[in-house]
Amino acid sequence: MKNKLIKVARETNLYLKDYIIKQKKSNLIGPIKYGLFSGGKKIRSKILVDIGKIFKVNYKTLIKIGAAIECVHAYSLIHDDLPCMDNDVLRRGKPCTHIKYGESTAVLAGNSLLTMAFEILTGKNLKVSEKIKIELIKNLSECTGHTGVAGGQYLDLYYEKKKVSVKKVVDMQIKKTGKLFSFCCMAPLVIKNKDTNVINFFNKIGSDIGLLFQITDDLIDFKGNTNYVGKRTKKDKKRGKATIVDLLGYKKTIKYCDKLKFNLFKKLNKYGSRSKDIQETVEYISTRNK
Ligand code: IPE
Ligand code: IPE
Ligand code: MG
Ligand code: MG
Ligand code: MG
Repeated sequence: MKNKLIKVARETNLYLKDYIIKQKKSNLIGPIKYGLFSGGKKIRSKILVDIGKIFKVNYKTLIKIGAAIECVHAYSLIHDDLPCMDNDVLRRGKPCTHIKYGESTAVLAGNSLLTMAFEILTGKNLKVSEKIKIELIKNLSECTGHTGVAGGQYLDLYYEKKKVSVKKVVDMQIKKTGKLFSFCCMAPLVIKNKDTNVINFFNKIGSDIGLLFQITDDLIDFKGNTNYVGKRTKKDKKRGKATIVDLLGYKKTIKYCDKLKFNLFKKLNKYGSRSKDIQETVEYISTRNK
């Protein structure tokens, strides 16, 4: 699994580097590259490739869409670290973008990454029909804006130091993290013109994988070591973040994750051996320690 992830990461990075080189120069290219290439697992691209494999979607097409998703992800991290949000200083073992380039530059580089994602999806070298491109753009907009990442980030900050139910935390985490994973799981089906029912089925699979990913991230924050993880740890408690681990405790959170994973495997088993890669990735997500 690790080697397959590294391969997808390398190819996504290559595509993005080539894409950026071909753009006109600007002062924001430096911080944009810093936000995109200063490490990062590229796990979202891997999920897209895994689901794409089930439905036999062209690999190069998947890498291009993955590149767009990684732009959204990089934007969300740059903004997440800002003083007005999580106020962090370290990301992927390096100073956060705003520490290196200043706050206003980080905001603008983040904005530019978000718009670059949509620019990639409209590109001529993405070989899908215009109708499908529009559908992908619509989907990504919904997953990224106020009903997705941005809305979830709002709730994450709003819930700080408040007593919040598990249900509300789950809803917030599905928005801030799960929605982008949903897009990764839906995009291959959109390309293959699948029925709404199947797309919705994969929408839910995506949000569950994203939820599992975020809860594991919270567990890593709870237990992890900064030097190894590459970002400050034990910061959620300090900021009073509403998390499942804060509400249920460590052991019950592990059980919660096991149940999530069990149900995911049950759903994915319907796709037989074609779902082997995505199952491996889900396993990796729940057992990773950084
Ligand atoms: C971190 O995401 C933010 C969360 C949604 C928990 P990743 O752990 O995927 O970040 P990188 O890109 O690998 O650094
Ligand atoms: C970030 O969640 C989720 C995003 C949508 C960016 P966190 O705030 O827990 O991510 P880290 O721990 O800073 O990477
Ligand atoms: Mg945050
Ligand atoms: Mg954060
Ligand atoms: Mg975190």
